[in-house]
Amino acid sequence: MEVLVVDDEVISRRMIENTLQEGGYQVTTATNGCEALEILKQRPIQLVVVDWEMPVMDGIEFCQSVRSGDSSRYVYIVMLTSRSQPSDAISGLSVGADDFVTKPFDPVELIMRIHSGRRVVAMESRDLMIFALAKLAESRDPETGAHLDRVRNYCRILALHLQRQVRFQDEVDDEFIRLLYDTSPLHDIGKVSIPDHVLLKPARLTTDEFEIMKTHTIRGAETIESMMEQFPNAAFLKMARDITLSHHEKYDGRGYPHGVAGEQIPLCSRIVAVADVYDALTSKRIYKKAYSHSRAKSAIVAGSGKHFDPAIVDAFLDNEDSFIATRKRFQDNLTCTTHGMPVTNTPFELVPAMMGQEL
Ligand SMILES: [Fe+2]
Ligand SMILES: [Fe+2]
Repeated sequence: MEVLVVDDEVISRRMIENTLQEGGYQVTTATNGCEALEILKQRPIQLVVVDWEMPVMDGIEFCQSVRSGDSSRYVYIVMLTSRSQPSDAISGLSVGADDFVTKPFDPVELIMRIHSGRRVVAMESRDLMIFALAKLAESRDPETGAHLDRVRNYCRILALHLQRQVRFQDEVDDEFIRLLYDTSPLHDIGKVSIPDHVLLKPARLTTDEFEIMKTHTIRGAETIESMMEQFPNAAFLKMARDITLSHHEKYDGRGYPHGVAGEQIPLCSRIVAVADVYDALTSKRIYKKAYSHSRAKSAIVAGSGKHFDPAIVDAFLDNEDSFIATRKRFQDNLTCTTHGMPVTNTPFELVPAMMGQEL
């Protein structure tokens, strides 16, 4: 990863450069803030070490310019200063520096600070990637963005409830809940591979069409798996893969694509199943009105132990008010269109007919 080092003093600049190169970073240098801004315009550098006091443009002005700019990526700034008064640190922070290292600097400390900057920047890339993937799916999926917002919030409500239960304490920690919130919007990314005549059909799917629709689970998981080859240990990719593959599995083993049952279905997918179906039921579709909360609740309760994990249905029943509030908070934009067609919001495989009920 590349670091931009901005310092007017030659010796200091060289020392920082050497330290960072030894730490495995590629280094580009500038002698003042103006020069550094020019470099940032031309190159996608996201880590900067900048001296506080410099001619032409000092570190403070540089920070202000970076933060007021319209860069689409976050630039992590470590400010180097010979000052050590707390008030200086506060004024540096107030203009947007992320961290401070005092001169003369300790090489190990500088490397550690840059490593943590790299982690922040990597997190941002991860979030951007998830968002980009979800947006890609949304561009072809008749479901609206509000659906994704509601589902991820329903998932969090359910997971927070499970976290308080002994049975789930080992699996559901804060990290699990954060990952679930971040990755649940990806559940239908495989729909990008479904042909328009099936995905956008404004009527119930035939058996053959439904077979095609079912493949969105496997196609989505394959997409995530290809990313896992690059990052085999990334927990968020693993969860995203489980969710895309298994969110239509049913607790009694009668779901798809593999017909796995009970706890064979990853917990994250069992949670998404309740959240996704509740949202499908309470949303308007071209062929049905939106269900009231109580009607959707009856359908969810009827599916307990069949479609859904009973523990998650119980979590839902204990948090009905939060579900209703979330539904109100993220309303559908009914004028939204997909491919110039009105949004029909039709995950046909989710309709209660598939749960053995009539619409
Ligand atoms: Fe789906
Ligand atoms: Fe969905």
